[in-house]
Amino acid sequence: MRRYLSLISGFAVLALAITVSVLLARAYIEWSGNSVPPWLIAMIAGALGMLMGWALLPTWWRGVLLIAPLVVWGGFQIHPGWFLAAAVLLFLVQFNAIRHQVPLYRSGRPVIEALADEIESRGASSFADLGCGDAHIIAALAARYPDCRFTGFETAPVLYLLARWRCRHLTNCAIRYTDFWSVSWSRYDMVFAFLSPQPMLRLWRKCQRELAPQASMYSLAFEVPGVDASEVIEAGRFDLLRYAVLPKGGVRDAGDQPRD
Ligand SMILES: C[S@@+](CC[C@H](N)C(=O)[O-])C[C@H]1O[C@@H](n2cnc3c(N)ncnc32)[C@H](O)[C@@H]1O
Repeated sequence: MRRYLSLISGFAVLALAITVSVLLARAYIEWSGNSVPPWLIAMIAGALGMLMGWALLPTWWRGVLLIAPLVVWGGFQIHPGWFLAAAVLLFLVQFNAIRHQVPLYRSGRPVIEALADEIESRGASSFADLGCGDAHIIAALAARYPDCRFTGFETAPVLYLLARWRCRHLTNCAIRYTDFWSVSWSRYDMVFAFLSPQPMLRLWRKCQRELAPQASMYSLAFEVPGVDASEVIEAGRFDLLRYAVLPKGGVRDAGDQPRD
């Protein structure tokens, strides 16, 4: 509720500041006969809006109010075709945000290092990145571990093409334009995912059904609801959670038991 109030007040202040500066500009033109450039009116509206909202609104509004009128004015100067092109590009990059509620968000170098340690300590020979983005994770790992086979699944068109290009010289790295839910993961020793909270239970169930008993699922940042991770590995901004697959019909150790 507070968020909506802040939004309504912010837009009200913005509208008021723009109206006041347009009226001031008109009065000035009538009085002096000189014209005022539109960008100057936008700047005055920004400064006015910031001052009006200074004590009234949360701090982050100050910057927004300052630049909003200039951005709006600039927007009118740009050909609408550019907005369409930007929207199409955004759609092709963030395709899965709509389809699977999983947007692109790249993990960083500490994640590569954490996964590299796991590949080494477990002697993994196959690795899947479920939703590989532009493949910066598996490309780095594939270059480092030529004896391990890497597969990246990606269905956002622009990201798929970038991933293919990035891995073009890596013979142990395959990029597939495939929805990862539609294939079996049984051949992988390590399955890595950085998705969103939404698919975590489904991911875990599929791993339980399909992965070999010595395989592990790794999730960056997102927990499987009701299941304790077997291991929590520091990987920079987010933790890397390892979930060992339960042996069929049994329980391996306390860390692997689903919670009620
Ligand atoms: C948060 S990004 C992670 C990218 C990369 N793994 C990393 O760690 O930097 C998730 C990616 O999964 C892709 N994705 C989501 N659902 C998918 C699906 N069902 N099949 C293939 N790719 C999917 C998205 O397009 C997005 O690029």
